[in-house]
Amino acid sequence: MDRLRIGVVGVGVQGHLHARVLKTLPEADFVGIAEADEARRSKAEAEFGVPAYASLDQLLDQVDAVSICLPDHLHEEPTIRALAAGKRVLLEKPMSLSTESCDRILANCPDPDALMIGQILRFDPRVIRARELVRSGDIGEIWHAKVWRSTSQAVGVGIWDRTSVAWFLGIHDADLLRFVTGQEAEVVAALGRNVLSPGTEDIVHALLRLDGGAIATMENSWTLPHSRPSRADAGLRIIGSKAAIEVTLSHTDLLMVPREGNAVNMDTYFWPSREGNGASNLRTELDAFVRAALYKEPSPVPGSEGRAAVALVEAVEAAMRS
Ligand SMILES: NC(=O)c1ccc[n+]([C@@H]2O[C@H](COP(=O)([O-])OP(=O)(O)OC[C@H]3O[C@@H](n4cnc5c(N)ncnc54)[C@H](O)[C@@H]3O)[C@@H](O)[C@H]2O)c1
Repeated sequence: MDRLRIGVVGVGVQGHLHARVLKTLPEADFVGIAEADEARRSKAEAEFGVPAYASLDQLLDQVDAVSICLPDHLHEEPTIRALAAGKRVLLEKPMSLSTESCDRILANCPDPDALMIGQILRFDPRVIRARELVRSGDIGEIWHAKVWRSTSQAVGVGIWDRTSVAWFLGIHDADLLRFVTGQEAEVVAALGRNVLSPGTEDIVHALLRLDGGAIATMENSWTLPHSRPSRADAGLRIIGSKAAIEVTLSHTDLLMVPREGNAVNMDTYFWPSREGNGASNLRTELDAFVRAALYKEPSPVPGSEGRAAVALVEAVEAAMRS
């Protein structure tokens, strides 16, 4: 096998990006799509030139691996089905919406290398460097830390009836904190506030304690006005006994100022360019998945790591309601 036959399951916003990248990866043979929505199937077939099936089983017959890009609450069953068919699975974050559900996935994944969770921040060069600095001891003892991620309110509008801001955005920060510090976090308290959506928290602030003793805060919201030039405000700050590090994960580098309308800071790290070429964290992530599957290497982000991030968000949700 010199190229991995791979398909995308769910070709919505994220699946579309996966498909664009997979088309360009030298070691991937992008062979098809499974998508429930008929109009999206036709559009994707025309755009990517591969068959789009209504059923996952039809796609599974054609592939060695799948990338599952279904809504957060639909991750468990298709993942278990693909694993049972002997396929390597890349599952978008969050792994699932409860640790119980993650445990069912893991119980059906006897080969831990068969499953990778799409925690994209682990493929960001800035995060990788920050982790190296912390792990090498250059920061000293971690005294306190802050992770935050806010997006335009437009991100929440499409999804707040089926997920929450802690699950959709906070899962990135839960993973980021664990990945960079190498420590587990305990949730001490969390407060949420509903201001925009019909009934879920749009703002969540959590107070955590790392197992090395540091205090940490995690803040998530989808309340930024859409007119803000950078529609994501995100980052990580760690203050230690020897040094502090600050990582800006917002979109800041490329500003487009139209003659009419609002100025926009455009993403230059996470997503592929319009043509799907060039570097992007998603490309690095998908390339890592493809190569690990092709060369039978360990999962770059095992299910156990996805589950740990889920456990942290679950604890935030529980603390908010207690
Ligand atoms: N890594 C990141 O930074 C990042 C960013 C955005 C979204 N995501 C994740 O990606 C996943 C998908 O999010 P999205 O925004 O693309 O959602 P979306 O709603 O835009 O797309 C989901 C697609 O799945 C299809 N679908 C639903 N049920 C199906 C089924 N049973 N079989 C086949 N197709 C089905 C829908 O028709 C839709 O086209 C979510 O888990 C989300 O959290 C990750």
